[in-house]
Amino acid sequence: MSNQNDKIVFSGAQPTGSLTLGNYIGAVKNWKTLEKEYNCLYCIVDSHSLTVRHDPKEFNKTSLSFLVQYLASGLDPDKNIIYFQSHVPQHAELSWVLGCNTYIGELNRMTQFKDKSEKHKDNINSGLLTYPVLMAADILLYKANLVPVGEDQKQHLELTRDIANRFNNLYGETFPIPEPHMPKVGARIMSLQEPTKKMSKSDENVNGTIFLMDSEDVIMKKMKRAVTDSENNVVYRDEQPGVKNLITIHSRLAGISIDEVVAQYEGKGYGALKKDTAEVVIESLRPFKDRYNEYMNNLDYVENIYKKGAKRAYELAEDTMTLVRKRIGLIQK
Ligand code: AMP
Ligand code: TRP
Repeated sequence: MSNQNDKIVFSGAQPTGSLTLGNYIGAVKNWKTLEKEYNCLYCIVDSHSLTVRHDPKEFNKTSLSFLVQYLASGLDPDKNIIYFQSHVPQHAELSWVLGCNTYIGELNRMTQFKDKSEKHKDNINSGLLTYPVLMAADILLYKANLVPVGEDQKQHLELTRDIANRFNNLYGETFPIPEPHMPKVGARIMSLQEPTKKMSKSDENVNGTIFLMDSEDVIMKKMKRAVTDSENNVVYRDEQPGVKNLITIHSRLAGISIDEVVAQYEGKGYGALKKDTAEVVIESLRPFKDRYNEYMNNLDYVENIYKKGAKRAYELAEDTMTLVRKRIGLIQK
């Protein structure tokens, strides 16, 4: 934590599935910009994932692979604190305190709770309901100012702000009120099969999603099959969402403007755009794959990174908890 700007950025990601091109362009590239300016913590929120049934062996493997995917996509462990949530017990401790200051009615209103209860009818556990309290604890534990989140997490962040305000009013100024930090417009990568829908790691149609771990052949195939339209004219407009998505991907990864991409394909068919965009994706992900394999062959080094991350996070978390315990009147340890 050594940046000039002393604002704190905190974001969390659940270790489920595999990272997609959407995560890469929409989140990781954005995080890499933030790491230059702010003190950032990026947390693999493994405790959050326990709210749905899981296979312990598989979960253990996925959690590690997930962390390595973030490292391989370029998150710098020297500039950011990268760690597993379960390694810092203060997350659970603060979550209890905040839970005692959150109303059941507030939690019942969360759309993610409603959606997940609908999807996992046989396992509507209390963790699913209190999930947003743990998320509030993640953020407030580090007195975060900015929270990069997608649209779907805005409601949880609103609740975090309400909880922080309530706590401050009851017990005295303790937490800054965090602000959402949304990726720029155009950073929403769409499904290759249904370009009006967000590219998602849990999409049933895997052809719509490019995973960072996909082989070059698979990437080429998925891109060639990308749904476009019958205009056969490379134009960047909402009426041609498939083409617009390919242009966005091309522009973001090749580092050239939308206009330049459009000019390059003027008078050419969609075939050329798809093939070249596939090549741009393959080229951009090549260092990812090399780094992923390097890290996986060097797990001692990876362990070192997440242990060091947890140690730094623990110290910051303990500072906040010392204040919180004092504020609510617990006897100091
Ligand atoms: P998720 O995959 O939903 O856990 O999201 C992790 C992060 O990646 C969040 O910051 C999302 O906003 C971002 N993200 C996920 N999918 C996309 C997408 N298709 N386009 C842009 N950003 C995305
Ligand atoms: N709930 C977030 C999601 O599903 C993950 C998350 C947990 C998070 N804690 C967080 C995101 C704190 C931002 C800040 O995507």
